[in-house]
Amino acid sequence: MFFSGEFHPFRLPAPGLWLDVFQKIKAMGFNGVSFYTNWALLEGKEGDFSAEVSSHLNRSLKLRAQQISGIYLLARPGPYINAEVSGVGFPGWLARNPAALRTAEPGYLNATENYVSSIGSIIAKAQITKGGPIILVQPENEYSSGNPPFPDPVYFRDVEEQYRNAGVEVPFISNDNAPNGYFYDQGPPEWPIYGHDSYPIGFDDKIYQWPADALPINYGDLHEEQAPDTPYSVVECQAGSWDPWGGYGYNKTAARLGPDYERVFFKNIYSFAASIFNVYMGVGGTNWGNLGYPEGYTSYDYGAPITELRTVEREKYSQLKLQAMFLHSSPAYLSAIPQNNTYANGSYTGNPKIATTALFGNKTNFFVIRHAAYNSLSTNEYNITLLTSKGNVSIPQLGGSLSLVGRDSKFHVTSYDIGGINMLYSTAEIFTCRKFSNKNVLVVYGGPGETHELAIEGGAQPTVVEGNNDLVKFGNKLGSTVIQYTVDAERIIVKLSNGLYLYLLDRYSAYNYWSIDLPSDPVSGNYTNAESFSSSPIVKAGYLLRTAKVIKDGIYLTGDFNATTDIEVIGGPEQTKSLFVNSKPMEFSQDSHGVIKSVIRFAEPKLSWPDLSKTGWKVLDSLPEIQPGYNDELWTSASLTSSNNTERNLTTPVSLYASDYGYNTGYLLYRGQFRSNGNETLHLETQGGSAFGHSVWLNETFVGSFSGAITAYTWNQTFALPTQKGQNYVITVLVDQMGFEENGSAGTSEMKTPRGVLDYSLSGHEKSDISWKITGNLGGEDYRDRTRGPLNEGGLFAERQGSHLPGSPISSWKSSDLGPMEGLEGPGVAFYATYFDLDIPTGYDIPISISFANTTDETSSVRCQIYVNGYQFGKWVHNIGPQDIFPVPEGIWNYHGSNYLAVSLWALEEGGAKVENLELVAGPVVQSSYPRPIEMSPISKWHKRPGAY
Ligand code: GAL
Repeated sequence: MFFSGEFHPFRLPAPGLWLDVFQKIKAMGFNGVSFYTNWALLEGKEGDFSAEVSSHLNRSLKLRAQQISGIYLLARPGPYINAEVSGVGFPGWLARNPAALRTAEPGYLNATENYVSSIGSIIAKAQITKGGPIILVQPENEYSSGNPPFPDPVYFRDVEEQYRNAGVEVPFISNDNAPNGYFYDQGPPEWPIYGHDSYPIGFDDKIYQWPADALPINYGDLHEEQAPDTPYSVVECQAGSWDPWGGYGYNKTAARLGPDYERVFFKNIYSFAASIFNVYMGVGGTNWGNLGYPEGYTSYDYGAPITELRTVEREKYSQLKLQAMFLHSSPAYLSAIPQNNTYANGSYTGNPKIATTALFGNKTNFFVIRHAAYNSLSTNEYNITLLTSKGNVSIPQLGGSLSLVGRDSKFHVTSYDIGGINMLYSTAEIFTCRKFSNKNVLVVYGGPGETHELAIEGGAQPTVVEGNNDLVKFGNKLGSTVIQYTVDAERIIVKLSNGLYLYLLDRYSAYNYWSIDLPSDPVSGNYTNAESFSSSPIVKAGYLLRTAKVIKDGIYLTGDFNATTDIEVIGGPEQTKSLFVNSKPMEFSQDSHGVIKSVIRFAEPKLSWPDLSKTGWKVLDSLPEIQPGYNDELWTSASLTSSNNTERNLTTPVSLYASDYGYNTGYLLYRGQFRSNGNETLHLETQGGSAFGHSVWLNETFVGSFSGAITAYTWNQTFALPTQKGQNYVITVLVDQMGFEENGSAGTSEMKTPRGVLDYSLSGHEKSDISWKITGNLGGEDYRDRTRGPLNEGGLFAERQGSHLPGSPISSWKSSDLGPMEGLEGPGVAFYATYFDLDIPTGYDIPISISFANTTDETSSVRCQIYVNGYQFGKWVHNIGPQDIFPVPEGIWNYHGSNYLAVSLWALEEGGAKVENLELVAGPVVQSSYPRPIEMSPISKWHKRPGAY
């Protein structure tokens, strides 16, 4: 089984932390990671594939392969990726290409060629056939709807062929957006493994309810109809959701798609014998440096099991671990065949309120139990008759009944192998089982207070060796030892005379158990072979166990701790001589059952960091463009009288679409000159995408703003201009461009929807009376900052000068005690900067975020961007929200030296604006074994930019 989590390395531009993420995925019991690459970041200028960024990718793929074999990769390079990134991954220059996107039109395919051959060859070098970790490649993405000739096999083959030409030889996999069955009919091997995506709960966080009938119970049947010869593959299974501007925030998302969602929806998918299963997202990330799409804000936490801060504290992480570990411990699952579940309601139980779907194997059978009304919040009692190796058995055998409490779904198993011992059945769910030299161990769990029953063949004598005797009943039926118990917060350990230990846990204590594959044969690089797996120790720890090794009579563990934690190692060497945790020798005891016990002490780190109201700020006017005498000689003249843009016909004498001039990211500025014939009104139509805004000045006089609204992608506004006849004037327009639109439908080109000024009129004038100039980021597609890539900086004066980069000579700027907390008294743009040192203790993972706190006036419209050591790590739109706290990873922060923090502040209203309180806040503090200091991300420095204006 390929059990994987989606991770976007480009959303964590601190490669020193990627291994941390991989280890956390592996610790969940996963063996795979799926990743997109983002064309827009790699080929900002047509024909110029970024060697800087790609060398990173190259190096990290190799590094990762060496360091943690046992995680395999599914590469999803697009070129179309969607992924809530600007323009679905298409670079802005594609907006000037008239070809229909995602079609076999040569204009489109040729445009993709440089990227595909470059990224394809990086992927090819990291394939498993070349000793690397990549085992699958997904060309395109959700090619599932579009204009005729959709579905176009010629196009689909063309994309595949591009990757084959680049040397990709591992199998392809597709991801239909739903089980539509596209491109299976001609059969493998020419066609990819058929896979589909599944987002059953949708993306609207306002609804906490799970809509009736949202559980896709027909996937198994569809698979049989559509692609019966391929492994059942869910390439993206919803594990969170994006959150829009003005949304409810990611903690709500995580709650709505929480552990109960994972239990009910994921087990439904396992009931169809999924063997390629990828959760989207496995790891949250950040839309830093303008890489996000217009509907989303800076955080792409997604409510994922591993948070944007890389913490594993969400219960959904732990719940997913229970599931992945179970499947990982159950090789019989892989050959079990899903049974017809048309009559799931009432089957096996006779209780129509319970639905049971079965998978039958050679010997072992699996049964997935849920409420018939899948979203029911009630408790349903049931008895169940299951097929075992001793025929049908009615369970529980020792009286009473089983229960399904609230939003839940469970696996029951029959005839399950525990290292040579046959378990006739278990209604408790299995976390893992292991066979050690002198004992077998089975760890099971259930919901608090539930009754469960297990039967172990052979009639061995059971004894309670730990826990409350009163909660356990033993019996002997059909030649098996039957154990019935009530789940308690305190565990119960039962020892059988055949050497089997049963750990009976409640779900919440099960979260503290880990079992990490031991390293095995370096040639196969495979940690997951059955032999090594079955003897990996089971460790009761706490927050996170990363790695485990057993060498002779010594045990070596690494892990992270957020509190003083009792640890136990179950199944270490019989005569353990040493225990090392995070390289430290530990005192320990070994009890009569061979369990090793020790305590990890958590020591609070001494934390201190600067108070941002005391670091001393400098300020630069970042709107000199409105000052008299400003020279715009070096700006780009808007001189194109036609546009290739297919999404909107020009309605102006010259195009003002920013991407027609190579400006594809961040803030855009326009200057329009005209000679007045007195008291004009200006009508302006701008477009920047959801939540965008604009401000307009006549010479240095502010004439108005649009503050933005979630559903306003375009805005029309009329301004009365205080002009005098015969005078020359300059209109300055500042527009926030929020990224390019999505392009979900093939053969359409919504991605090209233009940005900037769309149209205007000036009363009493021809349109041609205004002559326009435009700028965005300095150099446009000849972007200057090769390390942070083509999207990181926009068109603000300060950005064009590179003033967001460390080393910027701010000493010549004006002083501002409180910086952005002082703010502006009128509309305008100020750029604040400060240097300070950080000295964060090593040995801990302490994520540091920037918080815009305690802002009392909810409506005042102000837009800030934060730059940390030159990386734009936050776009705060105060009047829209919801994000006020912006995580910045270690590696972008320098935790042991100087940091440069800059904040642009755009006040959109007459009264100006300030940030009421800006501070650094620490995320959850964890004592971590992850090697520190973290390698710094490339931090290129300021130097005077030739040609900057
Ligand atoms: C899928 C798409 C992903 C992502 C997801 C929603 O349709 O393939 O790239 O956009 O939806 O988060």
